[in-house]
Amino acid sequence: MHRIVVIAVAVALAGVACTSNEPTEASAPAGDQPTTTAPPATTTTSTTSPATTTIPELPTASQESIGDPTYPGLGNAGYDVQHYDIDLVWRPESGEIGVVTAVEAIATDDLAEYNLDFHGFDIERLAVDGVETTFERSEDELVIRPDSSIAMGTTFTTEVTYRGVPERYDSIALPDMGWFSGPDGEQFVVAEPDAAHSWFPSNDHPLDKATFTISITAPPAWTGAANGELVEEVDDIGSVTRTFSMSDPMTTYLATVVIGEGWQIVEDEAASTEEIAVRHVLPPDLQDANTPAALLRTGEMIAVFEERFGVYPFDEYGIAVVGGFAGALENQTLSVFGREFVEAPIFEYVLVHELAHQWFGNSVTVALWEDIWLHEGFATYGELIWAEHLHGNDVYREFVAERYAAVELAEYPPPGDPPSDALFNGGVYQRGALTLHALRQEVGDVAFFAILRTFATRFAYGNATTAEFISVAEELSGLELDDLFDAWLYEPELPPLP
Ligand code: TRP
Ligand code: ZN
Repeated sequence: MHRIVVIAVAVALAGVACTSNEPTEASAPAGDQPTTTAPPATTTTSTTSPATTTIPELPTASQESIGDPTYPGLGNAGYDVQHYDIDLVWRPESGEIGVVTAVEAIATDDLAEYNLDFHGFDIERLAVDGVETTFERSEDELVIRPDSSIAMGTTFTTEVTYRGVPERYDSIALPDMGWFSGPDGEQFVVAEPDAAHSWFPSNDHPLDKATFTISITAPPAWTGAANGELVEEVDDIGSVTRTFSMSDPMTTYLATVVIGEGWQIVEDEAASTEEIAVRHVLPPDLQDANTPAALLRTGEMIAVFEERFGVYPFDEYGIAVVGGFAGALENQTLSVFGREFVEAPIFEYVLVHELAHQWFGNSVTVALWEDIWLHEGFATYGELIWAEHLHGNDVYREFVAERYAAVELAEYPPPGDPPSDALFNGGVYQRGALTLHALRQEVGDVAFFAILRTFATRFAYGNATTAEFISVAEELSGLELDDLFDAWLYEPELPPLP
């Protein structure tokens, strides 16, 4: 019994870490990385949800780049996006989407011109505050020159109208991402870390969170869904438009659309509470009596994590199950799962992993991609918490020992500051989780879980760095922990298992 559980998690980790058939991600060497210094403190300390948080200025930020050393092409400085309004029409007969994306932003500088990140599609029209405006495209940069310069502090809206058959996007981090078309015609998006701008023009970096409205128009046989709450459904002749509102700040890569023929948005009434609506987006063969059993444990999973991490940060949760994709991604309030996972015994642990990301990854998000262990190490640790909940502390320890042995064999680079072409290597997940285990051993259970809760609430809906996590850990434990984190996160050599 115990043995089976341990093996199950080993597979879950490998499966989640490796979203394609490329075996190279987990074994890429940690060379050629520019050395970087930690950025300044970057976050809100509020525990309520602000409209959006303020973007810190990184030393190397420019019109073309927000200044992230791991992916210098991503994001843009000069403005702070407040809201994205994406109106999308799905045309199954041609495979095209027609989209109007309105990006509402506040200028943080005087802007004679500014950039958005955008890849692909034909742009039919671009308007700034309703006035048609000239633009240029250069690789993935959309350069916009408004008629008159936008004064610092002004709110302005860029509306981009575009259409085309969506194409996959190959990022440096992971090949084959972005907008997918599955075997049953289902449409969906998986975009971490940098494929959001392959389906909507954006400031495509986690530092610039914003609220979203996404509306999907499709023929009546098709059901569209997106992050957040279904706020409106309009039936027209030959089409239905559903509008979804994400009223908590969200990073671009977590924005998603799922559209399937005969699919349904299915409420899980047993799991839903006054605070959280639990609903899933399921293809016909997984509805009703065919709902996978592990999915029915969602309410219990949320309860376990609320006890350990603090209140669930959003108003909805659920998953979408799609074909033609061998992975899982924690899209905000609507994680996406490939069918392969649903049919596998590891499904329960992958469910737990993506749910844990809603706290660590989605509500608290990295300021720079180099700190990605704050997402993946924490979500992987969430699997250990679930195992401990189900089977007790002895099994938890068996898990940890198994993970440690696997990491020892695999020779991953250390999890802090991974190579940009192996951002999601197994060390980020597994040694990242072991880092939290080492911390727990050092500070004891009471301080450890207080650290997780404090980190989750203090940086909720914002961004955080590894340095900020360490300072929370030191504050709540009263211990000096630099050496521990340095050894576990940055030293090539794997420390002994405590
Ligand atoms: N964050 C995903 C996880 O839960 C891994 C991941 C990163 C991913 N980028 C992706 C999955 C793109 C699918 C597509 O571990
Ligand atoms: Zn993950």
